[in-house]
Amino acid sequence: MGKIEGIKIQNYGVLKDIVLGKTRTKQTEKALGNLIAIIGPSGNGKSTLADAFGFIADCLEMGVEAACDANNRGGFEKLISQGAAEPISFELYYRESRNTRPITYELEIDLDKTGRPYVKSERLRQRVGQYGWPRSFMYLQEGNGYAFEGNDDEAGQNDDGSIIGEKKEVQLSDLRRLGIVTIGAMKQYNRIEKFLDFLKSWYLCYFSPDAARRIQTAAPQPYLDRIGSNINNVAQYMYRENKKDFEKILQEIQSKLPNIEKIEPKKFENGQMMLRFYEKGFAEPFYSQRMSDGTLKLFAYYLLLHEKNPRQLVFIEEPENGLYHHYLGELAEEMKREAGSGFSKQLFITTHSPFFVNALGPDDVWVLMKDAEGYSTIKRASEFDFVKELAEEGVPVGDMWYSKYFESMEV
Ligand SMILES: Nc1ncnc2c1ncn2[C@@H]1O[C@H](COP(=O)(O)OP(=O)(O)OP(=O)(O)O)[C@@H](O)[C@H]1O
Ligand SMILES: [Mg+2]
Repeated sequence: MGKIEGIKIQNYGVLKDIVLGKTRTKQTEKALGNLIAIIGPSGNGKSTLADAFGFIADCLEMGVEAACDANNRGGFEKLISQGAAEPISFELYYRESRNTRPITYELEIDLDKTGRPYVKSERLRQRVGQYGWPRSFMYLQEGNGYAFEGNDDEAGQNDDGSIIGEKKEVQLSDLRRLGIVTIGAMKQYNRIEKFLDFLKSWYLCYFSPDAARRIQTAAPQPYLDRIGSNINNVAQYMYRENKKDFEKILQEIQSKLPNIEKIEPKKFENGQMMLRFYEKGFAEPFYSQRMSDGTLKLFAYYLLLHEKNPRQLVFIEEPENGLYHHYLGELAEEMKREAGSGFSKQLFITTHSPFFVNALGPDDVWVLMKDAEGYSTIKRASEFDFVKELAEEGVPVGDMWYSKYFESMEV
């Protein structure tokens, strides 16, 4: 359980200094909702924003040096905003549930004296009381600092140095690895472990129909991988574990793709696994290799939206690619419905599709623009005065965007 109420990104490519939602220092801002759609012309930083989430996930998995090189990032020097004098930094404002107090995670990545990327500083704080000042329960600078053991959410160090709870001095030997990974692996640091689990459950979706066409060995798997190459296995899992939801997905797919009568996983004698699609008018089923890109994609999204234990943060880039435009409004509505309003699932979507955006409200949509220096700025659509006025007249946000209203705005 958990979601981010806000994120601040600094010096990450074209995102020199952006904030979405509520953060530790922007307490009066509205928290992020459960569906966040990001729009803006080409080059304004949508993919960079998606990649910032991917970068954090990669830092967790492979360490900061390898993360700078992964995913065609080209290394730290290419990644950091041109002209930046400060490190790449992130602030996540996280909340586990309605009844827990928010946690702030701050991370700074810089080059060391030998020119290698390293974790310059990392800090976790949790607010005390309803409006209290936060206490740090982990703070590491150049690998040195402290962490607090246990589950007590009051424990931590105040800014004046006074402490509550079990403080332990910490010294890390590997500055390429995140402290939360090293410390969170130890059972006694329960709060850090829990936060780490939240970050580990992020999913960045780069679905590729070609990958989905690969033949796989039969083995039920609960989660789609980044490119969707195990779609057959995920379908097999849901078919076995959660038949009701599987039926529901099929019904939804059928309502959009009236030619598809049935989809079912088929296990072959040699242990391989494929999906069979029964199409109207044909006696024999087709296998996933022969299905259209859009059909596979839609099926993958519906599997993703109906995961049994959903991953808590899902980022999808341009879901509209390869999909018939008439499906997009319904897909957006389905995503909004599945994201709900609780703390179990949050969806971030970048999109170029006004049809998709039309199904969303002005609070769900964020607009990336460029400032005079060429860096990105971001603003919630509902914060533009013209949006308020037009929305009251019933004009959907996608139409405003298509009509270039946002582009004529000063940043
Ligand atoms: N280190 C950097 N500092 C500043 N700007 C950078 C840096 N690296 C890349 N850029 C710029 O960031 C932009 C990247 O844009 P991005 O790919 O995020 O856009 P997008 O909104 O996804 O566009 P599209 O709609 O075409 O997918 C490019 O214009 C590129 O010139
Ligand atoms: Mg892009």
